[in-house]
Amino acid sequence: MTASPTVAEPERSFEAAIAADQRIEPRDWMPDGYRRTLIRQIAQHAHSEIIGMQPEGNWLTRSPSLRRKAILMAKVQDEAGHGLYLYSATETLGADRAELTGMLIEGRQKYSSIFNYPTLTYADVGVIGWLVDGAAICNQVPLCRSSYGPYARAMIRVCKEESFHQRQGFELLATMMRGTAEQRKMVQEAVNRWWWPALMMFGPPDDRSPNSAQSMAWRIKRHTNDELRQRFVDMSVPQAEALGVTFPDPDLTWNAERGSYDFGDPDWSEFMQVIGGNGACNVERIANRRAAHENGAWVREAATAFARRESTKENA
Ligand SMILES: [Fe+2]
Ligand SMILES: [Fe+2]
Repeated sequence: MTASPTVAEPERSFEAAIAADQRIEPRDWMPDGYRRTLIRQIAQHAHSEIIGMQPEGNWLTRSPSLRRKAILMAKVQDEAGHGLYLYSATETLGADRAELTGMLIEGRQKYSSIFNYPTLTYADVGVIGWLVDGAAICNQVPLCRSSYGPYARAMIRVCKEESFHQRQGFELLATMMRGTAEQRKMVQEAVNRWWWPALMMFGPPDDRSPNSAQSMAWRIKRHTNDELRQRFVDMSVPQAEALGVTFPDPDLTWNAERGSYDFGDPDWSEFMQVIGGNGACNVERIANRRAAHENGAWVREAATAFARRESTKENA
């Protein structure tokens, strides 16, 4: 028998690579939908890292000590680095970084809704590290085995840095919990503000998450939103007990039969509002990002002119 028509050949080897749990690399053939899904997902992830610098960046100039300032500065810089690796990963798929930034500041591409909530006290810095970076770790560890090679490899380093972010948050909160009654109250109030938005970070429930099945079939995604949310709750409850705080959920109880915690449903209408641009800080976040982009135009122009001069030197 002769081989079937060559048009089907690349598709077959793509399917075979996915089935064998091998990585897809930039030069490999891939279906348009796979490429588009990855560009959208990685770009949203990159935007989230960059916008995610703002809520904590807000406290950099008002850190309570030099040590806290150094930690927070390192953390916020890490997030910038994560954004840059991820924009580079989109470029391996043929996306254009400038275009993606344009889509972000024009509101045509999304970023994680969590970063549209305000940081009211320094305890929010700790809770973001503990719960928001903690949720990001739950989401991102499985992405280290994502089928797209450059994304999976970027996630390995990102996850190592995220675990530092989580630990510094927990340590900050543990310090405050050993402090005054007022400090303990600040921590509990910050936990109350961030718990539900952190649960929303895993996305809508599985039965309302239309793209999940295809992403799972392509092994871009390894677990469903609900599985990851459950894992996060189970991980966080003993940590809350260790800290001495509670989560604002009357339905949170240990289910011995399932070997997991039962918990209440986040307010999904709030999630839709924030995603739709009506969160407390959506306008401010994008305005800041736009201003930073415009203020950085001269740097990009200078770098481009320098690269041009260097390449003419080489060619001379
Ligand atoms: Fe990050
Ligand atoms: Fe982080």
